[in-house]
Amino acid sequence: MKRKKVPIRLKNISKTFPDGTKAVQDVSLDINGGETTALVGPSGCGKTTLLRIIGGLEKNYESGEVWFEDRKMDEVPTEKRNIGIVFQNYALFPNMNVYKNVAFGLKVRKLSQDEIEKRVMDSLSLVRISELRHRSIAELSGGQRQRVALARALAIEPDVLLLDEPLTALDAKLRDKLRIELDSLLTELQITTIFVTHDQVEAMSLGDRIAVMKDGKICQIGTPMEVYKKPKEVFVATFIGTNNLLHGKIIAQGKTKMFCTEGVSLQLPDELPEKDHEEVQLLFRPEDIQLSTSDKAQLIATIKNAFYLGEKTRLICTLSPDNEITVDIKESENIILGQKIYLEISSEKLYIIKE
Ligand SMILES: Nc1ncnc2c1ncn2[C@@H]1O[C@H](COP(=O)(O)OP(=O)(O)O)[C@@H](O)[C@H]1O
Ligand SMILES: [Mg+2]
Repeated sequence: MKRKKVPIRLKNISKTFPDGTKAVQDVSLDINGGETTALVGPSGCGKTTLLRIIGGLEKNYESGEVWFEDRKMDEVPTEKRNIGIVFQNYALFPNMNVYKNVAFGLKVRKLSQDEIEKRVMDSLSLVRISELRHRSIAELSGGQRQRVALARALAIEPDVLLLDEPLTALDAKLRDKLRIELDSLLTELQITTIFVTHDQVEAMSLGDRIAVMKDGKICQIGTPMEVYKKPKEVFVATFIGTNNLLHGKIIAQGKTKMFCTEGVSLQLPDELPEKDHEEVQLLFRPEDIQLSTSDKAQLIATIKNAFYLGEKTRLICTLSPDNEITVDIKESENIILGQKIYLEISSEKLYIIKE
């Protein structure tokens, strides 16, 4: 199937609900055509509202513009935007069987019977439920319903796919399985997709790019690796994956700059712009810390908790009464709670954020 790869541009969108809730605050965002952009943030941060504005379901926003390629969409009704939408609760028609649910949008578009049949069967086959076409919605599991909703969205051959937490209602195992399938499907179809989720693992694995949202604003947009490795603010750093965060000061010793706080003194990467005595946040990932020996250690910590997670062991360690860090190690033996451990981290893995 040939795709148009429609880019989406949002310009300064704000939406305040009548009760005064500022759900979306001056959001500008460029979404690449043909890519999947994961819109991720905690519950209540405005993801659904923003998605509804893009889809034309929420029309009363006080400012801003929505563009699909070179078309301004703000006055265009939902059914003329050529979008496929999957809601969190799927919103299937309970009194129609699977086939009729998927065919519904095609009938509205007055396609020929042959074309409808072809598209329904193609869509059902894409999401691998062709054999369920005669079932009623009540006879389907959660995962199967999710597939029907996706097939229905795909059948209209949309320019844009809007998915609002499509996996959230499923149990963990099924969610993992469908996430992998959905990733292959989206990669294959190359439809411009906005995937809303509060789950950072979903966002990281499905998004070509991730837009991190908080309190109605986009904090950062970038590839999963950019957002993970170079978070622009502490919120992004702590929301995307587990990050250690220490508050302290820069101490310059000649050309060398150190990060210092109670119980910690770490040499920072060269050529940092931060000045002597500047207050900063130091960030580093649990997986970037290694066990060391007393003569080489950069950090000395005390093990407070240990969680064996199969492929790794996660240690919660204290550096000082106020400073706790998470350390992931491969080894699982000889871990004794209350024991001192010696740790190393290379300076390139240390990341400074001013706040
Ligand atoms: N119809 C509404 N009326 C008033 N407030 C609303 C309405 N819909 C959502 N909100 C509020 O707007 C904020 C953003 O909601 P929402 O976009 O649903 O967030 P998310 O999808 O990220 O969980 C929340 O504070 C929510 O309570
Ligand atoms: Mg929501």
